[in-house]
Amino acid sequence: MTKLMSETPVILITGAGKGIGRATALEFSKWMECDLFLVARTESDLEAVKKECEKWKATVHTHVADLTDENTSHDVIAECVSKFKRIDLLVNNAGVGRFGNFLELTGADLDFTINTNIRGLFHLTQSAYKVMKTQKYGHMIFVTSVAAETPFEQSAIYCMSKFAQKGLIEVLRINARKDGIRITNIMPGAVETPMWGAVTPEMQEKMMKPQDIGSAIIHAYLQPKRTSVEEIVLRPVGGDL
Ligand SMILES: NC(=O)c1ccc[n+]([C@@H]2O[C@H](COP(=O)([O-])OP(=O)(O)OC[C@H]3O[C@@H](n4cnc5c(N)ncnc54)[C@H](OP(=O)(O)O)[C@@H]3O)[C@@H](O)[C@H]2O)c1
Repeated sequence: MTKLMSETPVILITGAGKGIGRATALEFSKWMECDLFLVARTESDLEAVKKECEKWKATVHTHVADLTDENTSHDVIAECVSKFKRIDLLVNNAGVGRFGNFLELTGADLDFTINTNIRGLFHLTQSAYKVMKTQKYGHMIFVTSVAAETPFEQSAIYCMSKFAQKGLIEVLRINARKDGIRITNIMPGAVETPMWGAVTPEMQEKMMKPQDIGSAIIHAYLQPKRTSVEEIVLRPVGGDL
């Protein structure tokens, strides 16, 4: 498969219904003509994002899926390719967290987090990688976290999952350099999204906003194809919360 540079980019974003994924979809829609393939579990969220994005420059296809399931992940990639013929950019953003004292975290918390952040990420990435390897180009942007390399006392399972994501990304990059695929690890600190639940106005004031991460993603994508932005760390000016 050869790519014409004038083609409208096909951008698949996971976790696009809320928070950082939603903001990334909106930022892309504002910046450029693009075909967006948006994935999340909640249909009403996806429909709302689609409506907003289509006010700008995007064509949007939504796909309701729980990415913890291996077959579902393969189906998501297959449907995107069937619809748009290729994948220029995968924004691997869907993620969850359960936080608390190490001794109080449960097996259910572990399964909940690992199933999305590790199992789901692995299967979707593997399926997308096969497509990009055949295309001989592509870009995968992972939204991990500063918790992929910094320990937080209440985040044993979350940190475990994010350190693991970083491990996958770094192995993948060794392969990707040979296959012409760009791999970017975006590591944000605290961003005001639904993941945090209710936060105080004082915290809100300190946190980054989802569009700050969305615009960093776009700038990484828009680098000349010869240049790979390998990592971006974004923190609130006052540091970690
Ligand atoms: N917020 C922060 O401070 C922060 C900081 C650093 C990194 N991050 C990372 O950024 C990413 C996005 O987080 P966020 O704060 O934007 O979270 P969010 O507001 O809770 O949004 C998460 C999105 O992911 C989707 N999702 C979760 N599990 C899924 C699954 N199994 N299958 C399909 N979709 C799934 C959710 O869809 P449904 O609601 O429909 O299930 C939602 O659309 C995560 O990987 C998170 O770890 C967040």
